[in-house]
Amino acid sequence: MEIVKGFSKLSLKEKIKFIQDNVPMVADVAKTTSHYRHETAQSVFDNFSENTLSNFYLPYGVAPNFLIDGEMYILPMVIEESSVVAAASRAAAFWANHGGFKTTVHDSLKIGHIWFQWNGEADILQNHAPALQTYLKASVTEITQRMEQRGGGIKNIQFMQQPELTNVWQMQVSFKTADSMGANFINTCLEAMKEPLINYFAEQKLPAPEIIMGILSNYTPNCLVSCEVSCKVEQLAPYAVGLSPQEFAQRFQLAMDIAYHNTHRAVTHNKGIYNGIDAVVLATGNDFRAVEAAGHAYASRDGQYRSLSKCEITKEGEFKLSLTLPLALGTVGGLTRLHPLAALSMEILQNPSAEELMSIVASAGLANNFAAVASLVTTGIQKGHMKLHLSNILTGFNATPEERERTEAYFSDKTVSIQKVREFLKR
Ligand code: MEV
Repeated sequence: MEIVKGFSKLSLKEKIKFIQDNVPMVADVAKTTSHYRHETAQSVFDNFSENTLSNFYLPYGVAPNFLIDGEMYILPMVIEESSVVAAASRAAAFWANHGGFKTTVHDSLKIGHIWFQWNGEADILQNHAPALQTYLKASVTEITQRMEQRGGGIKNIQFMQQPELTNVWQMQVSFKTADSMGANFINTCLEAMKEPLINYFAEQKLPAPEIIMGILSNYTPNCLVSCEVSCKVEQLAPYAVGLSPQEFAQRFQLAMDIAYHNTHRAVTHNKGIYNGIDAVVLATGNDFRAVEAAGHAYASRDGQYRSLSKCEITKEGEFKLSLTLPLALGTVGGLTRLHPLAALSMEILQNPSAEELMSIVASAGLANNFAAVASLVTTGIQKGHMKLHLSNILTGFNATPEERERTEAYFSDKTVSIQKVREFLKR
C-alpha cells in the first residue's frame, strides 16, 4: 500500500473506495459504514473528528438508584463491557438503603504551564515574579473576563526551575474554570501569554527567554473529590454469598490491602473503578483519556502505583469504603452539549455543576469497585459475567427468543464458551 496524500480532501465515497481498493479482504466498507451513519444528524458527528466514515456504536445504558449527597440520580453509562451497569445498579440500590454515597469536592484547581529556557539568575526571576504575574494577567483580560464573571479565571502564577534540565523553567499557572473542563480556555490563555512573557523580559532588559511550549497539565491533583459509603458489617449480608458478613468484610478489607501494596493487583483494582468512572465520563461527553491519565498519576503519587480506594472496619463494627481521585470534568463546553446523547445525560443528571458531576462520577467508580471486589472475594466475577457473555454470544448468533430461553436455561449451571453455545444451538 502506498503513502496517500490529501486523504482528508477526498469525498466520503472516495475515502471508502480507497480503503476497499487497498484492503481488498474487507468485505464491504460502503455497506457497513453507511448502515451505521445517522440519517439526519451525521454532520453533527462528522464534525467531532476527521476522516469520519460512520459512527462506532457503544451501548448507552442507565444505572438507577444512586443516592449521592442526599439526592437520587439515574446515572447514564456508556460502556461495551457486560456486567458493569448491572453491578453499578445493584451496588447503588444497596448503598441507597444505607445512607448512599457521601462526597467532598476538595478543590477544582487546574494547572497549565509555559515551558521556557532562560539563562538568568533564579533570584532575579523570583524578584520579578509578582510584577510579572500582574503584567501577564492583564495581558489576557479579554480572554479571562467572561470566565471571571462565572467565578473562574487565573488564580496564581509561579516560576519554577526544572532542576534536571539546563536553564529550563516552568511558568505554572493555576486556573479555575467554573463549570467547564477548561482545556480550551487554559490553552488559549497560555498561548496568549507567550508573547507578553517575552515582552516583559525585553522591557525589563533581562535576558530573553526562549519559549518551548504552553499547554495545560492533565495531572490535576488539586481537582480532587472523595466519596464514601458505610454501613454496619452485619448489613453486608446480601453481598456475603456463602460467608458470614464478618468474614466477607475481612476478606474484602484484605483484598483492598493487597491492591494497596501490590501494583499488579492495584492496576486491575483501579480498572474496576474506572469501569464506572469512564462510563459516566463518556456518557456526559467528557474526556476519559484525561481523567484516566490524571487518576493513574495520582495513584502513583508516592512513587508506587497503588489502589485509589480504601476500606476500613472500625472497632464499632462499621464498614467504610472510600475513594479519592482527581476528576477534571465539565458540564458546559466541549462535547457536553453538542453530542445529543451527552446533552441528554446532563438532563438525566438534572443539569449538575462540574463539582456535582465530580461527585456523581466518583460514586459510579466506588459502586463498581465495591461490586467487583465483593464478587472477587465470594463467587468470583465469571459467574455473573458469563451470564451476560452468553447473552452477547446469542446476539452474535442471531438467536431467536426461544433459542435464547432454552440456551440460557441449559447454561445456567455450566461454563459458557462460544464453541459450546454454537454446538448447543446446532443440536
Ligand atoms: C473487570 O472489568 C474489572 C475487575 O477486574 C476489577 C477488579 O478486579 O477489581 C473485576
